[in-house]
Amino acid sequence: MPYETVALDDVAKEIEIIDQTKLPGEIRLLRLSSIEEFYTAIYLLQVRGAPAIGVFAAFAIYLCACGIKAVDYDGFIAEFDKCKDYLNSSRPTAVNLSWALNRMRDVAQQHSKEPVSSIVDALKEEALLIRREDEDACRAIGENALTLLKPGYGLLTHCNAGSLATSKYGTATAAMYLGNERGYDFHIYCDETRPLLQGARLTAFELANAGMDVTLQCDNMAGALMASGKINAVLVGCDRVAANGDTANKIGTSVVAILAKHYNIPFYVCGPMSTIDPSIASGADIPIEQRKPEEVTDMWYTHPMAPKGVKVFNPAFDVTDHSLITAIITETRIFYPPYFFESHATI
Ligand code: MRU
Repeated sequence: MPYETVALDDVAKEIEIIDQTKLPGEIRLLRLSSIEEFYTAIYLLQVRGAPAIGVFAAFAIYLCACGIKAVDYDGFIAEFDKCKDYLNSSRPTAVNLSWALNRMRDVAQQHSKEPVSSIVDALKEEALLIRREDEDACRAIGENALTLLKPGYGLLTHCNAGSLATSKYGTATAAMYLGNERGYDFHIYCDETRPLLQGARLTAFELANAGMDVTLQCDNMAGALMASGKINAVLVGCDRVAANGDTANKIGTSVVAILAKHYNIPFYVCGPMSTIDPSIASGADIPIEQRKPEEVTDMWYTHPMAPKGVKVFNPAFDVTDHSLITAIITETRIFYPPYFFESHATI
């Protein structure tokens, strides 16, 4: 892909993203500069995937900070917090959003004795660091994941935890990219991922573009695929990992995990340490985004495919119980059960 998932143009004071709602049919670049545009881009999933949302939020709050007209820290931080709270309300499940915004807030606080212009400079450095760290983390996740995989493996993934969901490499796909460079000849199977089709529109698109052997199947075919013996491991991303290892990811992930357990196939969750949220005891406390009924009844069809007014259940994420997860692969290490993430300082 010749474009970055999320890029900061500090001269124009804009963020450039690929509008992911238009893929794969159209590569449309969006240049965003107002807080309303930043909010809407996250809300509409023009930018999506937990790490990419974190990087985008860091750039967004930096650009908001550039526009704050305050003469002292108290005035500055009052405006900063308003922007932070607004951006943080754009989507609830991926903890990377609040993680990045809080990290930026901490930097502002650390520079509170300095002029506002120095605080803003420090925020820019931090946002760019978050972007660089994300790319490094994804590559390290890929290296760690690759130690668990063998050449020729069939790999199943769900949703898009790929390059488009991060700064580069993806999380669940990082080992696929690295393995592809090193001649592993993986056979990748993507669930289409109803209702927004992140697997069909984004994962199949980016992996095929990278020259990988990709097969697409409907979500309800994963069991038949596993029964056929073609899948040696499942790799998925995550939006939030609770202290006990319960993991929120795209709706349908828990179904894949239950199937993998039945067929004795290892189920690996891949994500940066920033996706671990030790403040949440278990998956029961992870806020799950509910989305519009039309995504299920109308979207992608030439005419509505459900009776008008039917009640719709449309959560964007589900929680995979920790007992179904073979390992959680991060940039620092691979965690095996029993999982216990007490605090970032002690992990
Ligand atoms: O609703 P989305 O498309 O933002 O959901 C994305 C996912 O569920 C991904 O698997 C997750 O964010 C991990 S991305 C590396």
